[in-house]
Parts: sequence; structure tokens; C-alpha cells
Amino acid sequence: MALLGHSHPAIIEAVTAQAAQLITCPEIFYNDQRARLYETLETVLPDEINRFFLCNSGAEAIEGALKVARLLTGRTGIVAAKRGFHGRTLGALSLTWNKDYREPFAPWQPAVTHVTFNDLGAARAAINEGYGGGGR
Ligand SMILES: Cc1ncc(COP(=O)(O)O)c(C=O)c1O
Repeated sequence: MALLGHSHPAIIEAVTAQAAQLITCPEIFYNDQRARLYETLETVLPDEINRFFLCNSGAEAIEGALKVARLLTGRTGIVAAKRGFHGRTLGALSLTWNKDYREPFAPWQPAVTHVTFNDLGAARAAINEGYGGGGR
């Protein structure tokens, strides 16, 4: 919601109206508002993007991306940028650079290689066919 601005009157009105009807709705149930959102997304996104994962946080988006990457490639190794922050869930935390966030919760997701942001040579070197790198 933050990307839509803070305290915009139209957002307050829409959220208030929705909260008065139905404040949350799991994916297993049909929801007219979710269906409208999917329809809108389909009209603004390129044709090849026709599946969506709606989520509640950045960390959940990272978890979804990790799962999609693993499903599509069959690989478990992940390359992440040094100094990056990816969230506090266990998978996302494994990628997060700052040890203060990570250290207390070891062990993390295996085979994470951290490379300097924008160092494409290091990123290419870290990508391989299997388990991936590991450590840093
Ligand atoms: C790049 C990036 N990924 C993930 C996150 C985690 O988002 P959230 O706190 O919504 O889980 C953040 C939060 O700052 C972020 O900047």
C-alpha cells in the first residue's frame, strides 16, 4: 500500500469501504475485488505474464521468487547481492547480507553466494548447474 502514497483520501475511502464488508479473504474463496485486480493486471502487463502471486510483504514476494526459481531451474543455489536486504523470513533472511539480521537464525537456506551488486562477472561465475555456491 505504501507505493500508493500515505493517507491519500481515495485510499482511505476504499480501504474503509472494503473493511466494512470483508477485511480478509483466503485464496481458496472467490473474491470479486481480487478478480477485478487480476483483470486489471492482465490489461497492463505483457501478454506472457499471465499468472500472479498476490502477497502481503516484500519477504513473502522473495519467498515466492525463490520457489519459482527452484521449480523452473531445478537448482537450489541462489546468488544474492552483498549489502542487500530481502526480508526476515528464513528464506529471505538467508539472502540478506547484514549478519546482524542473519546470524542468530543459522543455519540458513543452503548455497547462497553473495556477489558485489552490478558485478556481472562475479554473478556469472556464481551461477552453475547444480547446488550452487555456498557461503561467501
Ligand atoms: C528489496 C527488499 N526486499 C524485501 C524486503 C522485505 O519487505 P517486508 O519488510 O515487506 O517483508 C525489503 C524491505 O525493505 C526490501 O527492501
